[in-house]
Amino acid sequence: MLRRLHKDQPAAFAFTPKNLEWAQGQISKYPEGRQASAIIPLLFRAQEQEGWLTRPAIEYVADMLGLAHIRALEVATFYFMFQLQPVGTVAHIQICGTTSCMICGAEDLIAVCKELISAHPHTPSADGKFSWEEVECLGACANAPMAQIGKDYYEDLSPERLREMIAKFRAGEVPTPGSQTGRFSSEPKTGLTSLKDHESGRTQYNASVQRAVDIGDTVKRIDGTEVPILTPWRQTAAPAAAVPAPAAPVAPQKEETEAPVAVAVVSEGTKPQALTAARDGKADDLQKIEGIGPKLEQLCHDLGIFHFDQIANWGAAEIAWMDSNLKGFRGRVTRDKWVAQAKIIVEQGMEEFLRRAKTNDY
Ligand code: FES
Repeated sequence: MLRRLHKDQPAAFAFTPKNLEWAQGQISKYPEGRQASAIIPLLFRAQEQEGWLTRPAIEYVADMLGLAHIRALEVATFYFMFQLQPVGTVAHIQICGTTSCMICGAEDLIAVCKELISAHPHTPSADGKFSWEEVECLGACANAPMAQIGKDYYEDLSPERLREMIAKFRAGEVPTPGSQTGRFSSEPKTGLTSLKDHESGRTQYNASVQRAVDIGDTVKRIDGTEVPILTPWRQTAAPAAAVPAPAAPVAPQKEETEAPVAVAVVSEGTKPQALTAARDGKADDLQKIEGIGPKLEQLCHDLGIFHFDQIANWGAAEIAWMDSNLKGFRGRVTRDKWVAQAKIIVEQGMEEFLRRAKTNDY
């Protein structure tokens, strides 16, 4: 299938502040220089925010990761999970049309989509609320026929049940995902013969279905507020990582509850007091601090930091500023506890510091 960018594109894209924070958390999972590995989650988040993946969104993500636009475009056009054209504002229904599902009635489901949504796939309904497409096997063959809607699977479908589901979506309800005939999992239709633990009633639904019901966000547009930022290795108060400036300025695509954040260099906190040169012409050996090597020491000098007592005096605002301005080494001040190390050197002396450094006792 030919996958091209849609002919009508919005003027710009920007992550909401929450989604930007989430994206930077994802980027922080990867070692320095490997940030491009975050491209798929970031593109998918952009799609979840907007409903489909626009060219400005692809370029925005490429700029965040320091990639040529064509690199992000290659990824977006390769994977079918990325929707390159507008989809229904309420739900995009992906009907599996591969062997098991086809044998068990996928064509009847597609007929319902053609009747109730649109005669052609990837074409939103007249009211713009729904769209559909046929996809390859989604790995739920034992519960065929099935469809993916939003993030969830609807299994053991029948044309009648799909009609009911579309009516529910239209009415603003979210049908419960999972088997539509009451199967708990992929057990025989005649019932379980083993692995019957769940029958104790601990949960009402199976695994991800229980989660979907608990969260209730199957087709909800993601704005970042409903998902905890699961990046515990970053301090919660730590600054967002700097984002490279884009090739062209961007503006919000549409009105949102949170003002979108343009891609721009983020400089958090307060710049620490800097010196124009080392006192008495002699800088401290900053490389004594665990985590500072020749490059970081030079960066510190470039920023007017030459002495242990300067670092020892940094508060949260100064740490935030330094962490967001150490090009290529963002977050190192916090990660390596520079301030705690410098304080020991200043207050207890180098000998005591070196003793504690052996066990990282900062
Ligand atoms: S054939 Fe439909 S999920 Fe595998």
